[in-house]
Amino acid sequence: MKNLLSAADLDRDEATAILDTAARMHAIQTREVKKLPPLRGRTVVNLFFEDSTRTRSSFEIAGKWLSADVINVSAKGSSVSKGESLRDTALTVAAMGVDALVVRHHASGAVQRLAGWVDCHVVNAGDGTHEHPTQALLDAYTLRTRLGDLADRHVAIVGDITHSRVARSNVLLLRTLGARVTLVAPPTLLPAGVAGWPCETSWDLDATLCGKEHGDVDAVMMLRVQRERMSGGYFPTEREYAMAYGLSPQRLGLLSEDAPILHPGPMNRGLEISSLAADSARSVILHQVQAGVAVRMAVLYRLLAGADEGEVPA
Ligand code: CP
Repeated sequence: MKNLLSAADLDRDEATAILDTAARMHAIQTREVKKLPPLRGRTVVNLFFEDSTRTRSSFEIAGKWLSADVINVSAKGSSVSKGESLRDTALTVAAMGVDALVVRHHASGAVQRLAGWVDCHVVNAGDGTHEHPTQALLDAYTLRTRLGDLADRHVAIVGDITHSRVARSNVLLLRTLGARVTLVAPPTLLPAGVAGWPCETSWDLDATLCGKEHGDVDAVMMLRVQRERMSGGYFPTEREYAMAYGLSPQRLGLLSEDAPILHPGPMNRGLEISSLAADSARSVILHQVQAGVAVRMAVLYRLLAGADEGEVPA
């Protein structure tokens, strides 16, 4: 695998191999000395044209724990603010002898375009409303630790699907891993063309959580309402959205006691998720963050060392 641009790049064997490698990497997080040698002498640049807390810092930690040299380049503070194009910026950074670019961009498709201009490995760290494949991998990793094999498991993904790269990548990856997905949102927040996606849809969160719509739900993933990508009235008021689609304390009772609650972050507490749900024993939100480091270590390791989990140094 040269690049990871889309969850669709991964077949079941490749996705499973990354998750298995991540499990080996995860063990390192609890060690006192968190360092492995395999990427010594390799250089990874995090090229971020859009804000990030989780993805950028976890890629940086992942690269450093594998002994790569990691450099962060942000649009703010770089020559992008002087008008340099995406192509010129990518070629300039790649010309320095970089082995991998981890790229986040606000425009859908930008990372795919960039990958066509450079020779080094490229990882999509989120492009517009399109895809976020390493988020889907860390979500699958978290789900696997809670539910075991994901085959025939049913995951409800709830909220602002239209603007969510996380939803797109999760639908693709969870299907690849054999799970069923129901997307739950008001009609205004379900994207055009969703009927062609490999999943079910629903407008009724209560019926979905009860299992009345598409069968029992094994896990629920709440999505952020992405106000910064909204230009019109997608719902009447935030209060009404929270009442119809928020994971409120009352709705927690509809969900199976064993069902994990996921959220990719950042969260709008009180809008798509209540603090009671976010901080409950069923919440695995911080486990997702922790898994992010292990999964990104596994992705960098497989891309740059070209090795699988059996070869992870002890
Ligand atoms: N989930 C996610 O991509 O978070 P960041 O925007 O903080 O990277």
